[in-house]
Amino acid sequence: MLRAACLCVLWASFIHGFPVTKERQKLLLISFDGFRWDYDLDVDTPNLDQMAKEGVKAQYVTPPYITVTSPTHFTLLTGRYVENHGVIHNMWFNTTTKEKKGYYQTQFVNEWWDNGTLPIWITAERQGLRAGSLHFPGTASSYQGQVPTVREVEPNYYDYKNETLWHENTDKVMGWFRDQNLDFVSLYFGEPDGTGHRYGPDSQERKDMVKQVDRTVGYIRDSAEKHGLTERLNIIITADHGMTTIYRSAQLEEITLSKIPGFNFSDVSFHLLDYGPTGMMLPNPGKLEAVYKALKGAHPHLHVYKKEEMPEHLHFTKNDRILPIILWTDPGYVLNGYFPVQFNKGEHGFDNQEMDMKPFFRAVGPAFRRNLLVGPFETVNIYPLMCHILGIQPDVNDGHLNATQHMLVEAVEPLVINQSLL
Ligand SMILES: *[C@@H]1O[C@H](CO)[C@@H](O)[C@H](O)[C@H]1NC(C)=O
Ligand SMILES: *[C@@H]1O[C@H](CO)[C@@H](O)[C@H](O)[C@H]1NC(C)=O
Ligand SMILES: *[C@@H]1O[C@H](CO)[C@@H](O)[C@H](O)[C@H]1NC(C)=O
Ligand SMILES: *[C@@H]1O[C@H](CO)[C@@H](O)[C@H](O)[C@H]1NC(C)=O
Ligand SMILES: *[C@@H]1O[C@H](CO)[C@@H](O)[C@H](O)[C@H]1NC(C)=O
Ligand SMILES: *[C@@H]1O[C@H](CO)[C@@H](O)[C@H](O)[C@H]1NC(C)=O
Ligand SMILES: [Zn+2]
Repeated sequence: MLRAACLCVLWASFIHGFPVTKERQKLLLISFDGFRWDYDLDVDTPNLDQMAKEGVKAQYVTPPYITVTSPTHFTLLTGRYVENHGVIHNMWFNTTTKEKKGYYQTQFVNEWWDNGTLPIWITAERQGLRAGSLHFPGTASSYQGQVPTVREVEPNYYDYKNETLWHENTDKVMGWFRDQNLDFVSLYFGEPDGTGHRYGPDSQERKDMVKQVDRTVGYIRDSAEKHGLTERLNIIITADHGMTTIYRSAQLEEITLSKIPGFNFSDVSFHLLDYGPTGMMLPNPGKLEAVYKALKGAHPHLHVYKKEEMPEHLHFTKNDRILPIILWTDPGYVLNGYFPVQFNKGEHGFDNQEMDMKPFFRAVGPAFRRNLLVGPFETVNIYPLMCHILGIQPDVNDGHLNATQHMLVEAVEPLVINQSLL
């Protein structure tokens, strides 16, 4: 993204050739964790269908690698690939002390999140807007000492499935928009991810949870109406990643590293394994080649890469936090260390080119065209779209407005004024 420090960028629309000053539009970004792009195809979803009729539906969107919750959500908030924003895993770790922290505890490791990239809340606030966040990953941290005007961090052991709580959280956020005059809020729901993991993406339980999501989409839009926000509020609903079915040793040959001939765990000083399909390793000094050679090609459904040789489309190389060896499996398989300890029926974390890893995308509101189906785009592009709707100057990011601009009512071009000409 180009930034011209000496240029003043105005966001304007034109009627009959005259610039019109408009009231600033509001924006609600919602994530339903793990809502795969095609989850509405085998379930009746009247509210999502209605939203598509009144707004924009993308065929699917492509998340960044690695396709797990914290990295992909931080991409939504920053428009940066994971290697550029630094939240490279759900787990914080220290290769020296061998310490690891789980997903929830890592929310509170400030230096893990605040690694040089500002989420949209902070960028918006620095430009005079008011931002909020409810339960969105990254909310617990501060960024260069700043936090959004209003925030609510998810409690530990939160009941992700309780529909009453979903309604309460929705009304709370609508109240923030109306009573505290917020311009932007990010809102997170932990489903249908949990149900997809536990029962698998093809299960009846997942379909029932998609119905609950659909009812909630209806509730969200009704709540916006009741709070008098419909005219000014844009709503983007998307997710962080998809979900795919995992098979067990009865159906396939599991990938267990300790069983691979020539691979020896004592050549590795630190590893992140047994976390779905993805893994990373730090070999002992002088052991990188030996570890790499032993693992590469050891199983037809195991991918092993040296950090600097990672496929380019994954954008998962240029960060000191990424360990020297990266591993991932094909859909259907998970990566086991010493022996299988994972029993989820659904997983994510795979290559972002896999269709099962793609989330859904919907948008409605005064900025968006109606009844428009658009092709796929990468989720890095949602950030510049959001900045555009809010009328703020984006920070450096990896997205482009041109990927989503055709969704907008007015193909609004930034009016770049060269101040030295005024
Ligand atoms: C890891 O722990 C060591 C020893 O306490 C410390 O010196 C180092 O700064 C830590 N590294 C990170 C990235 O936290
Ligand atoms: C990002 O984190 C790494 C350690 O993981 C640290 O070395 C680096 O200084 C941090 N950068 C910023 C800008 O915070
Ligand atoms: C859901 O949350 C509501 C509001 O806190 C609570 O009254 C209700 O008991 C919860 N339901 C379940 C099934 O836990
Ligand atoms: C693994 O390496 C350790 C330490 O070098 C050695 O003692 C052990 O015999 C090796 N195991 C195998 C199966 O080669
Ligand atoms: C958007 O612009 C960028 C940079 O100019 C370009 O690389 C990209 O191909 C464009 N994308 C589309 C969808 O036009
Ligand atoms: C702004 O205008 C000045 C004077 O015409 C010109 O020299 C300069 O290159 C322009 N800057 C940009 C970024 O177009
Ligand atoms: Zn997730």
